[in-house]
Amino acid sequence: MSQGVDEQPTRLVVGISGATGIAYGVRALEFARKAGVQTHLVVTPAGQQTRQYETELSAKDLAAMADVVYRPSDIGAAIASGSFRTAGMLVAPCSIRTLSAIAYSNGDNLLTRAADVTLKERRRLVLLVRETPLTLGHLRAMTAVTEMGGIVMPPVPAFYLRPGSIDELVDHTVARALDLLGIDVPDMPRWGE
Ligand SMILES: Cc1cc2nc3c(=O)[nH]c(=O)nc-3n(C[C@H](O)[C@H](O)[C@H](O)COP(=O)(O)O)c2cc1C
Repeated sequence: MSQGVDEQPTRLVVGISGATGIAYGVRALEFARKAGVQTHLVVTPAGQQTRQYETELSAKDLAAMADVVYRPSDIGAAIASGSFRTAGMLVAPCSIRTLSAIAYSNGDNLLTRAADVTLKERRRLVLLVRETPLTLGHLRAMTAVTEMGGIVMPPVPAFYLRPGSIDELVDHTVARALDLLGIDVPDMPRWGE
């Protein structure tokens, strides 16, 4: 999918928050670029911390993977408004803090504001929530997001395709998440195909 409404390139908002698993967000940006989708990225300060712990990427390297990058404090950016049309938003990975803010409509930074806008405009919102084990508070926040139409998709790996590496596990999860947003990842192995 590369063209959207009025033949504009399809826009996807990508949020990276401070849960472990920044690889999910990085891969989503790479797949979206391959699919011809324009990405609008916001990374929280905690997301920048996990980038440092978990990757060799600089902040600049990560930014270069997106088409447009916003500061989390830039609360007046395009993606903070419903009039800026997008195909939806993926938060990968999604921390419990960010999940909770989204669940209770707390738009205190650009990531959570953009997620709230996605919900209010009835667009697709997919959250790769990463925490374990889960408290009742976590589960209640997931329920609230689900009741508002968001999709909670913990990045839980599937083993039936016999993944041979961590990259394959990540790719499979990210491809499934992009599927939910209507973005096709070519050559992704699918059960039964
Ligand atoms: C290395 C590292 C790993 C973390 N992993 C998780 C995690 O898996 N899930 C989670 O909810 N929080 C995790 N945290 C804590 C969050 O980063 C913290 O709650 C932070 O306030 C989240 O802020 P944000 O939602 O604005 O990104 C982790 C923190 C660090 C430094």
